Amino acid sequence: MKPLALTLLLAASSSAITIAQHTTSAGSTRLTCRPKTTSHKPTGTTSAPQPCGTCPQPDVLTEVPATPGAIKAAVVPLSDEQRRGAGLPVAAWDDELARYAKGQAGLCGRGGVDNSITSSKVATAADATSYDIGAQFKDALAGDTGAADPPQRADNARIGCGVALCSAGTLIDHVQAVHFVCQYSEWTGTTSAPPPCGTCPQPDVLTTPPLTEEQVKAAVGPLSDAQRQGASLPVVAWDDALAAKARERACRFDRDSPTTIWTSRVATAALANDYPIAGDWADAVQRTAAPPANATHSKIGCALSLCRAGTVIDHVQAVVFSCEYS
Ligand SMILES: *[C@@H]1O[C@H](CO)[C@@H](O)[C@H](O)[C@H]1NC(C)=O
Repeated sequence: MKPLALTLLLAASSSAITIAQHTTSAGSTRLTCRPKTTSHKPTGTTSAPQPCGTCPQPDVLTEVPATPGAIKAAVVPLSDEQRRGAGLPVAAWDDELARYAKGQAGLCGRGGVDNSITSSKVATAADATSYDIGAQFKDALAGDTGAADPPQRADNARIGCGVALCSAGTLIDHVQAVHFVCQYSEWTGTTSAPPPCGTCPQPDVLTTPPLTEEQVKAAVGPLSDAQRQGASLPVVAWDDALAAKARERACRFDRDSPTTIWTSRVATAALANDYPIAGDWADAVQRTAAPPANATHSKIGCALSLCRAGTVIDHVQAVVFSCEYS
């Protein structure tokens, strides 16, 4: 994720306030607000800001007035205009990416994934009635104009945006902030193929996943039982609907969730004959230990999916092993 692009839209009445902008070593930007004239000396012993009695616009909103539909309606024409202006295929709106972006926005600067753009502003009382989604998106675009930045990448075929209200002190010191995130993804790969790769290992060689659904169930059931019993947890029952959900999400960019475990490998021809499903299980559990260790889970469904070149691993097909719990 890029450093946060911060926009301050302060009312004229805030002229008694100074806003100091700091860039932390982590590259994120923090704004410190304090009265212009202080009667006390700052101690300067910690990085904590001084208490602020008169910061502009304290907690005045309870939510950002921007529904998913309104965000889509505001962003799509602007995104299309920017993409066409750059001679790029437009990025199609994707509701799933939008939900993901909203979740990222709600982390209020503490998280971050690649291939996204962000923009933030002080949350003012005026936002309750006139929050300008288009201006927020343009601000996010303005921070990412380089050829390799997400809005400029031809292979970013999809976009979804979301917004969150961040409480005072999370994103900007002392005051609430609106945090806006757009997640781009190249995961469909439909509008432009990745550049040719002369020496990539094992190009598209499989046409079906290396194991059938029944074989996955037969292999994983005992492995899951052993893992649960080893952790003194009740076993989880196999659930075909969860397996279908795992399969549906397997090749997606945003397959991570609190109830998912997964791993992937390059899909080579050799896998068709002798698939190391136990190794995949061990990898997946090792990568994301929480869902298998969660005592509240009672069901599991897993799938082995073949994902097209460029979706999970650049240039080559991948096999994704993934499980959903509930
Ligand atoms: C356990 O799983 C439930 C349901 O998926 C989830 O709500 C809860 O946060 C999980 N607990 C932990 C400690 O991960």
